[in-house]
Order: sequence, then structure tokens, then C-alpha cells
Amino acid sequence: MTDATVPAAPRDARPPGGLFITFEGGDGVGKTTQAALLDDWLAGRGRAVVRTREPGGTDVGVLIRDIVLHHRGDVAPRAEALLYAADRAHHIATVVRPALERGEVVIQDRYLDSSVAYQGEGRQLEAEQIRDLSLWAAGGLLPDLTVLLDLDHTAARRRLDADDKPFDRLEAEREEFHDRVRERFLAIAREEPDRFLVLDASRPAADLAADIRARVETLLTGVSAARGSVGAHG
Ligand code: TYD
Repeated sequence: MTDATVPAAPRDARPPGGLFITFEGGDGVGKTTQAALLDDWLAGRGRAVVRTREPGGTDVGVLIRDIVLHHRGDVAPRAEALLYAADRAHHIATVVRPALERGEVVIQDRYLDSSVAYQGEGRQLEAEQIRDLSLWAAGGLLPDLTVLLDLDHTAARRRLDADDKPFDRLEAEREEFHDRVRERFLAIAREEPDRFLVLDASRPAADLAADIRARVETLLTGVSAARGSVGAHG
């Protein structure tokens, strides 16, 4: 690695300032739509927003994304988990942490909960180890808010079919795989109720967006109150 701008190792778990919001859920639940609506709303309020995603939020990540989603033939489950973790390590170090340190809002499509659900549950690796691997890769960074869009697989599949794009390696998995992934997402959310906002993704997009805005509003108020009182946030 010759690029001096890339930090050699992650630093503290949580940089001050900024707000880190992730969207999670199965394929076809509407994460991208909701991320875009939230981005527009925050930008309209004058907030600097970085919209990004995993896998593939960096130049290195685009290469990794191509392997994990489009490689023809098998990828060993542990290799798949490590590829997602490698994408995450580079993305957090070079895109997400710098944005949070600048005090910006990061809106991210998928993060470590996807690894726990898809590799931990879907590929039947040890969920706790997968979470630890991701946390190691990301230097312990957890989102301030994770919006879980929950939808049953049949409804999600109808949306994907309507998109008319070929399925990637994960989307092409059996229904039973996606059912387990969905249940794992819900289980993670139950374990961390403070971090999660779980929404029924079959509701109208505008209603979901309003619920998400309300929650983000609370967080923003909290951040500015903390700044005002202790001046701790950048
Ligand atoms: P995504 O970018 O949401 O797909 P699309 O652009 O087709 O909507 O995610 C790509 C796939 O990668 C998705 O099926 C979930 C999977 N994935 C994992 O299995 N583990 C992970 O850690 C992440 C981030 C994604």
C-alpha cells in the first residue's frame, strides 16, 4: 500500500461529530429509495451528506463487489465473509470516518448487519464471529441509527422481478435462505433496540420516509444539544 492518505489502522471506535445512518434489509425492500429521500430532506436542511454503500463504496470496493456479486462459480463462505469485511475496512477508513470527522451525515446502504444476516445466518457461519470480524475491520464503528426495512421475501421478489435486472449471486439464493436472512435481521434489531428503527416496508414509501425523518430529527436535536452543552462534537 503506497497511498499515504489511507490510514494504516482504524483509530478509536467512534469519531466525534457527524451522524452515521445505515439502511438494512433484504434485497428489493426499498432501501435505495428511502436513502435517497432522506438524503434530499437533509440536504434541503443544509446538512452535508455523504451517500454511500457496501459493497462497492470505494474504487477498491467496486472490484470486491464484482467478485462477491458476479463471480461465476463458487466462493467459499469464509472467503465471501472476508471479501465483504475487506470492502468494509477500506470503505470505513477512507470514506466514512473522514466524513464523520468533518461533521457530516453518512447515509449508507448496508453495513455490518448485512454480514451477520447474509454470511452469519444465510451461509451458516458463526454470527458472533462475523460480527467481530466486521467490527475489527471497521475499528469498532457502529451506526447511530440503523433503519431496518422489513418485508417478506415474496413481496420483495416481486419488486426485484419488476426491475428486470439479472439476479446477483446473493439474490439468486433460495427462498429459505432469504427467510433466514430476514429473521436474523429482526433478531439483531431486537438485541439492539436503541440503534434500530424497524419498519414494515410494505407501507407506502412516503409514510416510511416520514417515520425515518422523525427519528433522524430526534438524533440531530440530540447531537446539537450535546454540542451546545459540552462542546464535545466536532
Ligand atoms: P446491494 O448493493 O444492496 O444489492 P443491489 O445493488 O443489487 O440492490 O447488496 C448486494 C448484495 O450483497 C445483497 O444481496 C446483500 C449482499 N451482502 C452480503 O451478503 N453481506 C454484506 O456484508 C453486504 C454489505 C451485502
